[in-house]
Amino acid sequence: MQKIAIVLGTRPEIIKMSPVIRECAKQNLNYFILHTGQHYSYNLDKIFFEQLKLPEAKYNLDVGSGTHGAQTGTILREIEKVLIQEKPDVVLVEGDTNTVLAGALAATKLHIKVGHVEAGLRSYDRKMPEEINRVLADHCSDYLFAPTEKSRQILLGEGIPAERIVVTGNTIVDAVYQNLSISEGRTSPLHELELVPGDYFLVTAHRQENVDVKARFEGIIKGLERVAGAFSLPIIYPIHPRSRKMMDRFGLKSAGIKFIDPVDYLSFLQLESKAKLVLTDSGGVQEETCVLKVPCVTLRDNTERPETLEVGSNVLAGTKAENILEATTEMLDRNVNWANPFGDGRAGERIVEILT
Ligand code: UD1
Ligand code: UDP
Repeated sequence: MQKIAIVLGTRPEIIKMSPVIRECAKQNLNYFILHTGQHYSYNLDKIFFEQLKLPEAKYNLDVGSGTHGAQTGTILREIEKVLIQEKPDVVLVEGDTNTVLAGALAATKLHIKVGHVEAGLRSYDRKMPEEINRVLADHCSDYLFAPTEKSRQILLGEGIPAERIVVTGNTIVDAVYQNLSISEGRTSPLHELELVPGDYFLVTAHRQENVDVKARFEGIIKGLERVAGAFSLPIIYPIHPRSRKMMDRFGLKSAGIKFIDPVDYLSFLQLESKAKLVLTDSGGVQEETCVLKVPCVTLRDNTERPETLEVGSNVLAGTKAENILEATTEMLDRNVNWANPFGDGRAGERIVEILT
């Protein structure tokens, strides 16, 4: 039986690996979880383990925050020690964070097979740290789990041998399907926030190239205020700690936006599925809104999820206030009967089947 190391470190990796972890547990496989500790605040980390009933990580490297070099380097050094000791047959990483790059690199240098979940996404914007991470992780990988045919074609175009690539769907669909009905049975966060279903906007924004640049973050805030004003509806922003920190540093304020702490997954799914429209720069949220049939406005100039633009669930608005309002107005006119391009919710099963 193959020994599988599941490496993760941030909120989206915990959520998107959860279907794979559940499948490994269900089949009683020989696996363990290695948490890098890139995310460590309770509401970005432990809350998801508790709520999604995931087994505790066998290792937590507690690397915390830092510059890209320091964070990636520390993870690389520390993961290597665990891999030498545990000798897994395969290391699984998910997505495009510094945790993913370090995990893939540490494993491949030790001649351990690497499986990349969510392979083949490209924004073609090398200014994004995530683009560097995903390209390098793909090219270190032995198993490339592409969510869509489009991502498979991208990998083939980069010279990756066809036999390494499998189209599995995206595990976010599994996560949404596995958790949406549970979330509906719970006390609604809408009630607590005094929101009426279909009558509010939901926002997330945390990308380095947006919130670390004052003019761009200011543009986003102004755009959100204009949207709230134009439609006379509340706008809720569960704010990532990075964005909170940068708002304080830049002295940005807004009375028109309701800022709340990041929320747990079941609450977020409820807020998302009942929103009139979602504005975001998150990767996972672009996918989830597409699956949930909620219109999405992406606060970026490009996306590595072009499938959402093609099916019509999403539009790129950039960070200028007038463009954000215009894109919102345009998306509200769209029919939401698009098809979900990210698979049938069985990606986790397929990934595990290939590895065993
Ligand atoms: C990281 C990923 C990004 C992903 C995001 C998911 C990289 C390069 N970036 O961005 O791709 O979309 O996670 O949310 O890997 N902080 C806390 N508590 C935490 C973690 C971070 O307060 O638990 C604060 C710290 O001030 C830290 C800042 O957030 O400096 C940024 O954290 P970092 O892990 O560097 O990147 P994210 O912005 O979270
Ligand atoms: N999410 C959450 N609570 C929040 C905001 C987001 O549970 O307050 C979930 C969301 O449902 C999605 C994931 O976090 O599955 C997206 O993570 P994030 O935006 O941090 O990272 P990205 O997808 O951009 O890498």
